[in-house]
Amino acid sequence: METKNILAIETSCDDTSIAILYENKIIENIIFSSSKIQNKYGGVVPEVAAREHEKNIIKAISLINQKIDLNKIDYIAYTNQPGLRVSLNVGEALATTLSKLLNKPLIPVNHIYAHIFSFYEPSINLKYPFISLVASGGHTSIFLVNSPTDIKVLNETKDDAIGEVYDKVARSLSLGYPGGPVIDSLFDKDRANIHFLENMPKPNDQFSFSGLKTQVLNYINQQKMNKKPLYAIDIVSSFQSQAINIIISKLIYYINEYNIQDISIGGGVSANNYLQEKVKQLPIKNVYIPKSKILCGDNAAMIAIYASLLI
Ligand code: KG4
Ligand code: ZN
Repeated sequence: METKNILAIETSCDDTSIAILYENKIIENIIFSSSKIQNKYGGVVPEVAAREHEKNIIKAISLINQKIDLNKIDYIAYTNQPGLRVSLNVGEALATTLSKLLNKPLIPVNHIYAHIFSFYEPSINLKYPFISLVASGGHTSIFLVNSPTDIKVLNETKDDAIGEVYDKVARSLSLGYPGGPVIDSLFDKDRANIHFLENMPKPNDQFSFSGLKTQVLNYINQQKMNKKPLYAIDIVSSFQSQAINIIISKLIYYINEYNIQDISIGGGVSANNYLQEKVKQLPIKNVYIPKSKILCGDNAAMIAIYASLLI
């Protein structure tokens, strides 16, 4: 099979990334993050993100240009949706410029679909349909994937995304940002002893994390107000075990409902060790997990990987 070399650009949120898929291998995946700067503002401010993208994208393409002869590229892929419009525009401007300059076709890519396939490499004999969990700071969704282009939403959150709640819980305990990795490292199954939710949501209900978030934040505030001790490990372990259990119960529901054999996970939260441990125990044949934490979060390698499935 003839290989196609792809340069991919990702600028949908606060990470600026350019990657190269060369002879079926990711040989570059440069990422500049503006999350530390964003954190000073308490969240992602679109104008700040766009300004950072403009600075970082020049640095990223210059580094790529030093490492590879751009004339060897066959396609230019870029994230065209969903995301912050002003941020997407920066990536799109570079993609269209390169496409004209190098006279190579453009491949616009859906960022969420790229998360679904971020585990993929050509040695995998992918079978359809499979289900996919995309869990990040902006999304919590389960998809039924019939092909790279036939993707149906089975469930998505009606309020907070799971990663957003990790970040808010961590912030209220002054654990820093992003909250997910800290909570992940503090997690201790044996200390998940606080029951924030009286009843677990039903497996086929729409995802909702605002109730759990409110319960955890109220608990923390009450403890502070009453000058009672705050045992961060107990709090975050209890929160994480309940949040992940909600996700796992939904995955089991859809596995049975659609008689599924394979599942993939993607998005920043898919880097979570407890989530990965629980997903590996699901009663199915193949569990596809991105090969590195970098591939779980926002990155251009996944844009190149997904684009390669569209050609
Ligand atoms: O996909 P991502 O890099 O950016 C978008 O939101 O699109 O995801 C970032 C989110 C943050 O909320 C962060 O706290 C969470 O992913 N996250 C984690 C872990 N690593 C990152 N959540 C749980 N466990 C982790 N190990
Ligand atoms: Zn993302």
